[in-house]
Amino acid sequence: MMTRIRPARKNDAALLSAVERSAAQRFRMVPGHEGVAKGSTLGEAVHLRCIRAGTCWVAVDEHDAPIGFLSAEAVAERDLHIHETSVDEAFQGSGIGRALLDAAIEGAVTHHLAALTLTTFRDVPWNAPFYRRIGFKLLAMSGLDERLSMLLRKEVEEGFAEATRCAMRLPLDHAKTNFRV
Ligand SMILES: CC(C)(COP(=O)(O)OP(=O)(O)OC[C@H]1O[C@@H](n2cnc3c(N)ncnc32)[C@H](O)[C@@H]1OP(=O)(O)O)[C@@H](O)C(=O)NCCC(=O)NCCS
Repeated sequence: MMTRIRPARKNDAALLSAVERSAAQRFRMVPGHEGVAKGSTLGEAVHLRCIRAGTCWVAVDEHDAPIGFLSAEAVAERDLHIHETSVDEAFQGSGIGRALLDAAIEGAVTHHLAALTLTTFRDVPWNAPFYRRIGFKLLAMSGLDERLSMLLRKEVEEGFAEATRCAMRLPLDHAKTNFRV
């Protein structure tokens, strides 16, 4: 199937929760993380904010319908924080997630940002290990800025086990020499 990545448009926003729910089904088979498959989604309002800012990208099928997305937001004109990356369960494992990441890295360079940040699961193969291969560094809990430590605290309040979560950062000088777009 032909897939292409493009900036998301306003009318994509309502379609992204279904993609996120489908993507999360991957967690049904992960011991200890089965609950993620039934978790809440990012919500249309957040997607719309990211779309307005030009920092939401979608992977679309041949009918221009979203089958994957990456929604992110610039913080303090410094970091592009990735709220969520999701690829419909039926299309996972064929390079779409990596292509969305490449688009976000290119977008962050275009927006003159210093880094990308995110929070994720430490030990799920397509989470921290995947981001590490792209060049994201695991941040020590003791060295986190207020924003990222608050975000991790909120995730724990919402039910994630503290030890399973981490924050990561990709400095863009490094990314410029690595991304594949
Ligand atoms: C994470 C996600 C967006 C990746 O999208 P994708 O299209 O499946 O990913 P890709 O095919 O581009 O593969 C991305 C990397 O994950 C690895 N990967 C994919 N599936 C894997 C699996 N089942 N086990 C181990 N590694 C896997 C690939 O090897 C690849 O790494 P590489 O580029 O270094 O070779 C997708 O798996 C997803 O939606 N997962 C559920 C939601 C989620 O976890 N989102 C991330 C929140 S931080």
